[in-house]
Amino acid sequence: MALLSPRRVSAFATPFLAVALAVSAVVACGDGPGAKDPSTVGAPSADPSATASAAPSATVAPSATASATATATGTTKTDPPPAPLDIPKTKASAMLGDLKAAGLDPANLPPLAKLTPEQTRKVMSSFTKALGTDCKGCHNGPKFDSPTPNKEIAEKMWDRWVRTLTKDGQTLYCDSCHQGKKEFLGHPDHKALGGWMHENFVDGVGRRDGKTQDCNFCHGTPFAGEFLDSWKK
Ligand code: HEC
Ligand code: HEC
Ligand code: HEC
Repeated sequence: MALLSPRRVSAFATPFLAVALAVSAVVACGDGPGAKDPSTVGAPSADPSATASAAPSATVAPSATASATATATGTTKTDPPPAPLDIPKTKASAMLGDLKAAGLDPANLPPLAKLTPEQTRKVMSSFTKALGTDCKGCHNGPKFDSPTPNKEIAEKMWDRWVRTLTKDGQTLYCDSCHQGKKEFLGHPDHKALGGWMHENFVDGVGRRDGKTQDCNFCHGTPFAGEFLDSWKK
């Protein structure tokens, strides 16, 4: 089962191999480290188009015999590797000037709730620029202090990610990932998305707390695929 440890699967989570590993790792659910494999736990339930793959049938029959079933019925072994995803690569922030103009140190940002009203105003403009949206992207009209789902997400992305993560040793900010789009992942093949996340959200991503960056930092343990819904409150 060593091959199925989360680390090994991550290291090999190229889109093509992830498909092959998904078949065998899902079989291991419930009895070993395979159960924690993020690229397989998220994928089968999340992707409605995956019904043709072996993963869903293996999920409902997590026994040793599922392996044979999956191999016999699955087409995954002969599927071509998915086309590269059309998602912008995560990069160091190009908006450090905006933060400094608000009197903030980009490498040592305070919690969002601790900004002065003047800093909040400038940071709000940086949000609209980084996400390519206007104030309504997060606020319902002029009642800026009312809670909204996107305000909740924005605050958590600031407090948990932007304050903690670096990209290739450089400062990471909202624009590093969003690059002018509020939603930028599209609706790609979810197995390929795991490989993309590895390349962009784990490789070259450092943590100011000194810990090793991994999928669980964002997806939690056990791995939750679409976790942003739970961030909206
Ligand atoms: C990406 C989401 C996002 C966008 C876009 C955004 N805001 Fe905000 N806004 C927030 C969040 C989150 C807070 C809460 C900050 C805090 O904790 O104090 C907030 C708080 C505020 C506040 C303080 C409200 C209070 O509690 O007193 C004002 C004023 C404000 N925003 C104005 C704006 C304006 C004006 C724009 C457009 C230029 C804008 N915001 C765009 C997320 C956003
Ligand atoms: C490490 C990458 C990363 C960083 C940094 C980041 N985000 Fe995000 N954000 C994402 C991803 C991925 C999504 C989901 C996008 C999708 O579904 O297409 C997202 C979604 C969102 C959404 C929900 C959009 C919607 O309408 O569904 C908001 C709001 C948001 N981010 C705000 C911010 C703000 C504000 C910052 C900076 C404080 C920020 N994000 C920093 C990766 C990031
Ligand atoms: C910096 C945070 C971050 C890291 C690290 C990260 N992801 Fe993600 N991932 C996201 C966000 C945000 C979404 C969109 C979630 C949503 O829409 O609710 C997402 C979505 C996904 C999805 C699609 C889930 C679904 O059901 O639609 C998969 C699969 C996935 N990630 C796999 C991985 C894997 C595998 C790793 C580790 C190699 C990883 N992610 C690391 C932020 C991250």
